[in-house]
Amino acid sequence: MQTITTAAELRRALADSRKNDRHIGFVPTMGYLHEGHLALVKASRARCAVTVVSILVNPTQFGPNEDLSVYPRDFSRDQRLCSEAGVDYLFAPDAREIYPPEFDTFVEPGDLARPLCGAFRPGHFRGVATVVCKLFNMVQPNVAFFGQKDLQQCAVVRRMTVDLDLPIEIVIVPTVRDYDGLAMRSRNRYLNAEERQRALAISRALFAAEAAFRAGERDPEKLAQIAKWHLQSIDHLQYLEIVHAHTLGSAASPLTGPAAICVAGDVGRTRLIDNVILNR
Ligand code: PAJ
Repeated sequence: MQTITTAAELRRALADSRKNDRHIGFVPTMGYLHEGHLALVKASRARCAVTVVSILVNPTQFGPNEDLSVYPRDFSRDQRLCSEAGVDYLFAPDAREIYPPEFDTFVEPGDLARPLCGAFRPGHFRGVATVVCKLFNMVQPNVAFFGQKDLQQCAVVRRMTVDLDLPIEIVIVPTVRDYDGLAMRSRNRYLNAEERQRALAISRALFAAEAAFRAGERDPEKLAQIAKWHLQSIDHLQYLEIVHAHTLGSAASPLTGPAAICVAGDVGRTRLIDNVILNR
């Protein structure tokens, strides 16, 4: 595996693969890798001849009161995990390589970025869309892999790719969970043992609603009530919504077509999100 820190170097490294029409798979991350990230790497290796992973804690997607400066980092461990997972190129630019001081152009997503997390994290998806667009231009992959855990991010990136005519296929990989159901995320390390226990309420709530759906319940209000019952141990519930899985608008009642139950809330000082898709 080759570790690369500049866009110019990356372009040179990938030139041969591109010339020989070897499919390039791309997995953008913010590092502190876990099994969820590695599932994306695995999906890329199954589909593509060459896999590129990027690691950049992207400053533009963090709000002023969010955890940019303390976001967990462990570059040598990430490097080892990527190498063991069969990654070909690890692109780890400095934030100044991506955002030089004179940087002044952003990608502004529209309606898809407004509900759910967008309502609580103003500017977040603008930062995500901007960095993903820039990384797409640097890597120029054939296929890019994103995790379903961040469902709204998937929707925003997909839309952006079509709207800006980027010839890249977006693949969504199912959420990887710990043995007890908790969705894996880099920020889980902030949870102490007691908080981690309480955080399980989120996946339990989603699984309960999913079970009710499977048993035939099609009223989104009722499904939301079932989920909510489990969420009492969450310190602050930001949202619990049942939306159309692609448009993220309110789901039809009774539910028809693909829908998603999406939850965000705080446990201690850690913000957690999760979702399950009904009716894929
Ligand atoms: P990060 O949180 O590091 O996640 C990188 C990718 O891994 C995202 O596509 C995310 O959805 C996926 N992922 C995280 N946890 C997962 C899990 N438990 N199961 C499956 N996939 C999971 O998301 C970002 O970084 C950033 O916003 C980024 C896209 C890199 C732009 O900066």
